[in-house]
Amino acid sequence: MTTKIIGTGSCPGDRVVTNDDLAQIVETSDEWISTRTGIRERRLTTVLGTAGMAAEAARKACQNAGIDPEELDLIVMGTSTPEYCFPNGACQVQAEIGAVNAVGFDVSAACSGFVFALMTAHSFMKAGTYRNALVIGADDISKIIDWSDRKTCVLFGDGAGAAVIRAEEQDGIFHGLLKSDGKKWDVLTCGARTAGNFLTEKKPELGYVFMDGQEVFKFAVKKVPECIRQILEETNTSQEEIRYYILHQANERIIDSVAKRLKEPLEKFPMNIQKYGNTSAASIPILLDEMNREGRLKRGDKIILSGFGGGLTWGAILLEW
Ligand code: UT7
Repeated sequence: MTTKIIGTGSCPGDRVVTNDDLAQIVETSDEWISTRTGIRERRLTTVLGTAGMAAEAARKACQNAGIDPEELDLIVMGTSTPEYCFPNGACQVQAEIGAVNAVGFDVSAACSGFVFALMTAHSFMKAGTYRNALVIGADDISKIIDWSDRKTCVLFGDGAGAAVIRAEEQDGIFHGLLKSDGKKWDVLTCGARTAGNFLTEKKPELGYVFMDGQEVFKFAVKKVPECIRQILEETNTSQEEIRYYILHQANERIIDSVAKRLKEPLEKFPMNIQKYGNTSAASIPILLDEMNREGRLKRGDKIILSGFGGGLTWGAILLEW
């Protein structure tokens, strides 16, 4: 028995914002942003928000899979920016797409959200509990950015990506590793809306994204290759067998460094960060969807997905397309 991705969809934010646009609001430049990160522009959502983009990506993924949303048993959404504390975003998506027979819940693992959600859904498949699932990574991260902080505001973009997965009878590879290091929780954070109760008299405060960029950079370039090597070892797979490494799109230099550490050519590391920036949990499924629609993924290709982010969390999945 194995889990297969049978369809993908995506929905980036509706408005293009270039590096030059950002140079109008903070002291930065296209040169600084593009050379340090690879980002040239990003898309921000002005209409749909997290659940709306997620639902649009989900509709496209169901169409691409040739599946009616009523056939879905499960919806798992990786997000850090749901519209509500409750209900969860997956329930909103369920309503929007008419997935009346599914159960939906969110997974919170920041930029690793899609990988964590996919492993969660796969575990239900492996246990034989469900057959068809929708896995989403979606973030409207622009609403939790401090737009006067040039250290963070130039990095992110909004979007959603989705994949329909199915439990298949035949043999195949689907193997994942999820990791976290809570000791480093404070290097990448966004405070929740906080307010006290009538005893504390605290005023409501909004949280914004804070990142110690260099700490996160060092963590990513060490842990991602380590995790990929562990997966290869556990599955007795050689690097030559891997067609693509689809990494979270946080910084082109992180991807370059992972490729170098694995001694792999950069061609095996597709990138779209230049167009979208860091879309948090959405970056891997958006890239996967683009590659799928461009016909770059062939049945039987072995690919590795790897995410990393706040928590700190990270993980990787080896699967056969
Ligand atoms: O998705 C979650 C995971 N996130 C990541 O993986 C991000 C990991 N970190 C990074 O990608 C990089 O650390 C950044 C792109 C965030 C920053 O690059 P850096 O090479 O580490 O730059 P830095 O933070 O060391 O800053 C260098 C200089 C500083 O000036 P001084 O102190 O040297 O005078 C910053 O103030 O660049 C300055 N700076 C900027 N200048 C122009 C910081 N942000 C900007 C900016 N425009 N937007």
